[in-house]
Amino acid sequence: MIGVNFCNVRMNKSKEYYNRNAALYDKILAPVDGTLSKWRKELLKDAKGKTLEIGIGTGKSLDHYPQGVSVTGIDSSENMLKYARRRANGHTHIDQLLKMDVEVLNFPDDTFDTVVATCVFCSVHDPIKAFKEIKRVCKSKGSILLLEHVRSERKVLGKIMDILNPISYTLYGDNINRNTYENLIQAGFESSQIETVKVWSDVWKIFRIKNN
Ligand SMILES: C[S@@+](CC[C@H](N)C(=O)[O-])C[C@H]1O[C@@H](n2cnc3c(N)ncnc32)[C@H](O)[C@@H]1O
Repeated sequence: MIGVNFCNVRMNKSKEYYNRNAALYDKILAPVDGTLSKWRKELLKDAKGKTLEIGIGTGKSLDHYPQGVSVTGIDSSENMLKYARRRANGHTHIDQLLKMDVEVLNFPDDTFDTVVATCVFCSVHDPIKAFKEIKRVCKSKGSILLLEHVRSERKVLGKIMDILNPISYTLYGDNINRNTYENLIQAGFESSQIETVKVWSDVWKIFRIKNN
């Protein structure tokens, strides 16, 4: 019972954080906005067709989608979605914005040509479960595009991230030591399907995954 409650507390931590801080999110990000926008643009240039954006937040990616893409955005935080809805005004490529958890996607198998997430998997409770869901809803031959900060492979920096992770998680619901590549493999993707590009040191990475 205690285990179950603890698990719920962990699951709700990130939702609570983003619900509480939705109004501040864009301001907190402002100092790094230029850099993140450049990386988002680089990632999203490969989005095609019917696209699912996971953890759309306040809709920071919406300006960067290429022509011809129709976007369904989901987020587990209703307050973050409020800001995404405002930003989506006037964007004709937005299909729908829905409150939904990536760990339980309410879409049939093989629905999307592209699945996108930027800066999301640090706060998802069970990333392996989430990647299995993404694999299921992405069409075969579709693409999964991720921009994520991850645990450094460097011995000392990786260890420092492990030590600081409980603090970051408690304050922000953010895990700074996620091994996203390993989580993708655990979810059933093969290394030959995953292209990894380091965009800043070995901490910020773009993953392009072919869903064979
Ligand atoms: C750091 S913000 C990133 C927002 C946006 N993608 C960006 O690049 O600015 C992480 C977002 O993921 C959402 N999120 C966290 N866990 C989630 C989950 N299990 N399912 C759906 N969204 C989730 C949060 O509510 C938050 O809006």
